[in-house]
Amino acid sequence: MDNIVIAIAKGRIEKDIYKRLKILNMEECIETDSRKLIFKDEENKITYIHVKPSDVVTYVEKGVADLGIVGKDTILENENDNEVYELLDLGFGKCKFSVAGVKGKNNYAKEETLKVATKYPTIAKNYFKSRGQKIQIIKLNGSVELAPIVGLSDVIVDLVETGNTLKANGLEIVEDMCNISSRIIANRVSYKFNKNKIEEIVNKFASTLDEKN
Ligand code: PRP
Ligand code: MG
Repeated sequence: MDNIVIAIAKGRIEKDIYKRLKILNMEECIETDSRKLIFKDEENKITYIHVKPSDVVTYVEKGVADLGIVGKDTILENENDNEVYELLDLGFGKCKFSVAGVKGKNNYAKEETLKVATKYPTIAKNYFKSRGQKIQIIKLNGSVELAPIVGLSDVIVDLVETGNTLKANGLEIVEDMCNISSRIIANRVSYKFNKNKIEEIVNKFASTLDEKN
C-alpha cells in the first residue's frame, strides 16, 4: 500500500502537531529546522507535507493528501470545507473568532452598513448575513487590529487567543462568534478506501487528547 499523506499546516499550530507526533514516536523523520517540505516515515508508511494553512484543505480536497491537520478557522474560511470529512478535534490551537472595535465606542449600528476589516471574509460574511446586518468587507492580510484605529473600518473580525493584541491596541470584544481549535480532516474517497489505516492514525492522535497542550 502507498504511504498515507498528511498535510501539516505550517505556522501557529505546527509546534503542537510535532509535540503530539513526538508522544506517538512518529516525528523522527521530520527535520523541524530544515527548509524541506516533504518527509517520509517508511516505518509507519506516512508521508508528511508542510503547506500554508490555507492550502491544507485544497491538498486534502484534491486527494493529494489523504489527511490534513489544520485550524477550524482555516476550514471554515475555505469554500470547499464541505468536501472533506472532519474526523477529530485535537483540542490544541484553541482560540475564538470575535467581532472587536475601539474600546468604549459604539461600533455596531444595525441600520447602517458596517465596515468590517478581516483576513476571513467568508466567515465574516456568513456571520453577519445570519444576523441580517449589512456589511462592507475590507480584506486585509494581517495586523487587522490597526483598521478601526486608523478609521479604515468600524470593526474587525479576527482570532482572539490571549486578548493581548486587542488590549495593546485599545480595542475590545463587541461579540464572540465561535470557538476554534485544530482538526484532522480527510479526503472523502481516501477515507473510504483507506479506512483502517486512517482510523489507526486518527486513534493514535485521539490517544494523546489528554496530554497537556
Ligand atoms: C493573530 C490574530 C490576532 C492575534 C490573536 O495574529 O490575527 O491578531 O494573533 O492573539 P492574541 O489574542 O493572543 O493577541 P497573528 O499574530 O497571527 O498575525 P497576523 O494577524 O498579522 O497574521
Ligand atoms: Mg493578527
